This record gives sequence, structure tokens and C-alpha cells, in this order.
Amino acid sequence: MHEFLLIVVAYLIGSIPTSIWVSRYFFGIDIRDYGSGNAGATNTYRVLGSKWGTFVMVVDVLKGVLATSLYIFIPHYMVDSWDRTNFMIGLGLAAVVGHIFPLYADFKGGKGVATLLGMAVAIQPLVALCCIGVFLLVLYLTRFVSLSSILASVSFAVFILFIFNEREPLYRVFAIAVALMVILTHQKNINRLLKGTESKIPILKYRDR
Ligand code: G3P
Repeated sequence: MHEFLLIVVAYLIGSIPTSIWVSRYFFGIDIRDYGSGNAGATNTYRVLGSKWGTFVMVVDVLKGVLATSLYIFIPHYMVDSWDRTNFMIGLGLAAVVGHIFPLYADFKGGKGVATLLGMAVAIQPLVALCCIGVFLLVLYLTRFVSLSSILASVSFAVFILFIFNEREPLYRVFAIAVALMVILTHQKNINRLLKGTESKIPILKYRDR
């Protein structure tokens, strides 16, 4: 019961629709009606400028860290360390589901990348760091945030399965699930990338509105 309540709290934390609330309460718009239509940090950056984009990214990453860290409320004597890791994965995924389907915003949220990153930072910080490296490299080379997110999440699976050679079946399933989840939430971006119509992020030339 205790565990179930924590999973619900993790979902509610993930449900905080940062970009939607920022756009609504500070700009009087719904971010989902502008740019790519996505309720995430990239679209906030695109539509409202780098300061708000960064703010949304930081909060969305923190949602993943915070939700995953709720495992501390499970008394240590009740679980061994491996059960705790399983539980952290459950909490993190609940937050990601909340981010994609937020209770407070008609269940139409973002693509889950920043919250997944927060979860990865809490569970596998070294792998998360490697994925950030892949993300930044692809972003530097292409200026496509979507492609960077997709390749970083695929690299998460590759790192866990082949480089860090994780043996635990749950971790392996989790790694593959992360990659598939990000590919699924980026279907529209993949179509635009294939058609050559995906927008690039003007990283160094951008001026705040
Ligand atoms: O995390 C979302 C990002 O990868 C793509 O965002 O707004 O370009 O669809 P967007």
C-alpha cells in the first residue's frame, strides 16, 4: 500500500506541466498551440526563449530526480538494495508517464525526455552522463534536438546492454523500454526528419523575446 501511494505521488510529480503553466501564467498562451505543439523544454526554448526553455528543462529533469528519489521513504529494513532499484525504476517511470500524460493538463504533455534524464541521473548517473555527451555531440553536429534525444536514448540502451554490460534482466528491459518510449513519443519528429521539415534549434544565434 505504502509503495502504491509513492508510485501515485511520483506520477503526480511527473504530471506537473511546467511548460504549459509557464506559457499560461507568464505569457497567456498555451505552448501546445505554438511551434512544434509539444509541451516540453525544446518548444518552450523555441517559442518563449532560452531562459524559459532552460527553466522548463531544469524543472522537468528535477521531476524525474525527485520522483525516483521517493524510494527513500521505503524503510531500509523492508527491502534489499536490489528491490530498492526495482522500485526506483517504477517510481521514475511513473513520473515519465505523468509527464507524457499529465493529470493537470488534459493528459496532453511532453515527450518524456527531460524527466527520463532525471530518472537516469538518479539511478545510473555515469550512464546518464555518457548519454548527455551523445546528446550534445549530435546537437552540435545537427542542431536537431529531436534527433539528439532519440540517439541519446538509444545510446542509453547500448551503454546499459553492451558497454556497462548490465546483467540484471530488469535493467536490460528498462534500457530497451526507454529507447522505445522515446522513439514512440517522437513519431512526428521522425516523420519531419525524414521529410526534411524538422526545425533546427538556433543555439548560438537565438535572441530572447
Ligand atoms: O524532448 C523533445 C524534443 O526531443 C523535441 O521537441 O518541440 O522539437 O518536438 P520538439
